[in-house]
Amino acid sequence: MKILGIESSCDECAAAVVEDGRVPLSNVVATQIPFHAVYNGVVPEIASRKHTEWIYAVVKEALDNAGIGPGDIGGVAVTAHPGLLGSLLVGVSFAKAFAWARNLPFIAVDHMLAHLYACQLHHSPQDPLSGAAYPFLGLLVSGGHSIICRVDDFDDITVLGTTIDDAVGEAFDKVSKYYGFGYPGGAAIDKLAQTGDPEAFRFPLPNLYKGDHPYDLSYSGLKTAVINQLAHFQVKKGSAGPQDIAASFQKTAVDILLRSLFRAVEDIGLTTIVAGGGVAANSYLRLRLAERKDLRCLFPPLELCGDNGAMIAGLGYRYLVRGDRSPLSTTASARVRAFKRSYP
Ligand code: KG4
Ligand code: ZN
Repeated sequence: MKILGIESSCDECAAAVVEDGRVPLSNVVATQIPFHAVYNGVVPEIASRKHTEWIYAVVKEALDNAGIGPGDIGGVAVTAHPGLLGSLLVGVSFAKAFAWARNLPFIAVDHMLAHLYACQLHHSPQDPLSGAAYPFLGLLVSGGHSIICRVDDFDDITVLGTTIDDAVGEAFDKVSKYYGFGYPGGAAIDKLAQTGDPEAFRFPLPNLYKGDHPYDLSYSGLKTAVINQLAHFQVKKGSAGPQDIAASFQKTAVDILLRSLFRAVEDIGLTTIVAGGGVAANSYLRLRLAERKDLRCLFPPLELCGDNGAMIAGLGYRYLVRGDRSPLSTTASARVRAFKRSYP
């Protein structure tokens, strides 16, 4: 069955067609980055307006690239939460109209569960091994969320730890903004850090390990420490370059994630880790996890780390085959779903 997936939660206007929850037949991502770059951040009003202008063409391209027409679609899935409300509403309204007009099943999905599902999609026809059997540990790292969880099924996650303040991607974006490294910050810092010395600056790791929440994360302290370094750094120019700031910050940001993740591995005893979200594209994070030969670490291909319609369509298919449908009265919501939590 071919599912159309639509994603408009932030600044990517995206649609894809996925066959049987596994094989992307098309994956169109129209990025709004140039429109937000001048402001060094996403402007919600601009984002929703661009989605409104682009969504028809993006969905049409996704169908064309898959070589199919609307009549070949078996269901429509869309991100309904979390995200920017105005942007989400564009995708949700479009998907509902599409489904209603063609009398197709409509499925509203959670964006974070979809990021986690990206690894279950076939990366290429030559890759029959893609995907992971449940249960596994999930590492969800994006611009808005940082979650370490136990994953028992496509829609059954238990949050073990999460950030108590900023998300990891947000820290990349803010540091990049203050230093003028570029927008969006994650990719800019990742690139700059390639030539930097990760030991040039020592930034503190948050002291969160009080016993109760061993897998929680915190990024506001690191963000402030790196930004405070700016004045000092400008005075001392010459001894260290921007690439050293980038590499030192990136190392600490990844150390914070891995400290909690590896604690969870030890305590929970699951040795498969599935990553998802924009920060899963980070080359240093990938490198550090690849060093752990005792673990099986799965990352989506780069084009499926950031926001895309394929992960939405894939996840939507799972709900559909289970017999789930969303009513057309479903609306968008900016907030993250209340996942189960487990604090040992
Ligand atoms: O999943 P995503 O596309 O959107 C959200 O759901 O938030 O994630 C976007 C985040 C941004 O903060 C961006 O800076 C970060 O992912 N990101 C990266 C990299 N590429 C994107 N962070 C670190 N390293 C990267 N290579
Ligand atoms: Zn996302």
